[in-house]
Amino acid sequence: MGKLIRAVGAPQLWTTILCGALLLVTLAAAALPEEALIVPGTLPLDADGNSVHAHGGGVLKVKDTFYWFGESYKRPLLGDFLSEGVNLYSSTDMATWHYVGLVFNGTQQMVDLPADMGSAPFRIERPKILYNEAYNNYVLLFHSDTPKFGYPSVGVAVAKEITGPYEWVRCFQPDGKASYDMGVFQEDDGTAFLVRSVENKYVGISQLSPDYTDTLGISSTAPQAEGPAVFRPVSGSYFMMGSHLTGWAPNPPQLFHASAPSLHNATWTELPEPARGEGANITYNSQSSFVFPLEFADGTILYIYMGDRWNFYGPGKVENATYVWLPLLPRTDGAGYELQFENEWRPADFRDRARVPVVYNTGTAPAPAAAAETTGGARVQGGGAAATTPSGPTGAAAKRTPTQPPAGIEAFTRPSIFALSSTAASRAAAPSMTTAAGGSFARRAANRVEAWLTG
Ligand SMILES: *[C@@H]1O[C@H](CO)[C@@H](O)[C@H](O)[C@H]1NC(C)=O
Ligand SMILES: *[C@@H]1O[C@H](CO)[C@@H](O)[C@H](O)[C@H]1NC(C)=O
Ligand SMILES: *[C@@H]1O[C@H](CO)[C@@H](O)[C@H](O)[C@H]1NC(C)=O
Ligand SMILES: *[C@@H]1O[C@H](CO)[C@@H](O)[C@H](O)[C@H]1NC(C)=O
Repeated sequence: MGKLIRAVGAPQLWTTILCGALLLVTLAAAALPEEALIVPGTLPLDADGNSVHAHGGGVLKVKDTFYWFGESYKRPLLGDFLSEGVNLYSSTDMATWHYVGLVFNGTQQMVDLPADMGSAPFRIERPKILYNEAYNNYVLLFHSDTPKFGYPSVGVAVAKEITGPYEWVRCFQPDGKASYDMGVFQEDDGTAFLVRSVENKYVGISQLSPDYTDTLGISSTAPQAEGPAVFRPVSGSYFMMGSHLTGWAPNPPQLFHASAPSLHNATWTELPEPARGEGANITYNSQSSFVFPLEFADGTILYIYMGDRWNFYGPGKVENATYVWLPLLPRTDGAGYELQFENEWRPADFRDRARVPVVYNTGTAPAPAAAAETTGGARVQGGGAAATTPSGPTGAAAKRTPTQPPAGIEAFTRPSIFALSSTAASRAAAPSMTTAAGGSFARRAANRVEAWLTG
């Protein structure tokens, strides 16, 4: 060996070889996100072996890192399930998630509140994070409320880094109206919109102020829906996933479409129900939360439906809620997208399907009315602030969970939930939702149960 080194006579060469070897090791270890194994209906473990609690959230990609944000552990409290704040996880491959922390603690940070908000505990639901380029900060928006929906509002906090800490700004009723489930949408030019259930009667879309801490008036409305998740495959074509309002119980998914130059002008049409196959009528026991465009190394974009399985009728109820991530695929008949259930899947499995152009994108789809006939009537709701006529109960009443589970739910309830248990047997039984391709997944004995649990 020594001879060889002397023979080549170049320590630099040796360094080069070493660096090259290290680079190769690094490359081999860096799995592509499209290769991540996703197992719907499970609670994944983070890199420390703890359950991931990021419910009702979404994913934001910053440079090469994916950040998964969501509600922290949903503690059974006051007859419902309440999160103390917002958890954040990071990953470079969508497989191994590192816990960043509870980046927003409502108990600690929600101060100077409107009188109607009372004091902690609060309802902190459906958090979303946006990067505001003009202000060079991250803005966290979520449904803030009292435990019994006494002040349905939007809470806002800001941070210089995505990893926080987030500083409380305020909570307010956007455009002066009760605001329940919410999502956000950001255009390429930074213009951002709040998309929320107004009074649980209809979905109202409002542009956010330049600093994203206020709304500028409702400029588009869509029919009554929860869990609204807007995505836009190409300019001028907006889609919105949503659900009906049945509390924690699952129901069929809804898909809306609008052809418009911007969300200001969006006139929404309901497309045929996107879910296919067994379990479609209960969205495979899940509810929409977010649609994430995953871009593959070759530029293919696959839209990932991110839903929550609230597990209301299962063991531990909402405390044991899991995640259902599925491919949202362009339909071949021009009616937007469809969801199909997979027991486990990798985004790369759907590379070819994801590349099928969505006919609505090019304006050659059947007219909305024709698409409507196939589902027995689309509901069209125009722009402007006019509310749709609510089809059922509104306000908090619209969220009442039926006492009986919907038929067919058993097939979409995985037995291995595991959440707060730390026995070896339950850990072994628990598949992680995502594991590094072919790699072993660290499962450490200690499960992190937030301090709040015992508080
Ligand atoms: C959140 O803040 C409260 C009040 O300061 C504190 O008691 C609690 O431990 C905090 N929770 C976590 C997980 O840090
Ligand atoms: C869309 O809405 C914006 C903002 O309200 C308005 O300025 C614009 O004229 C509208 N465009 C069309 C095509 O209606
Ligand atoms: C969550 O589900 C697991 C598996 O069925 C069960 O063992 C556990 O007790 C549940 N958690 C709670 C808090 O009930
Ligand atoms: C859902 O569809 C299945 C058939 O696939 C049916 O057995 C079940 O009753 C339906 N459930 C609901 C809630 O409609």
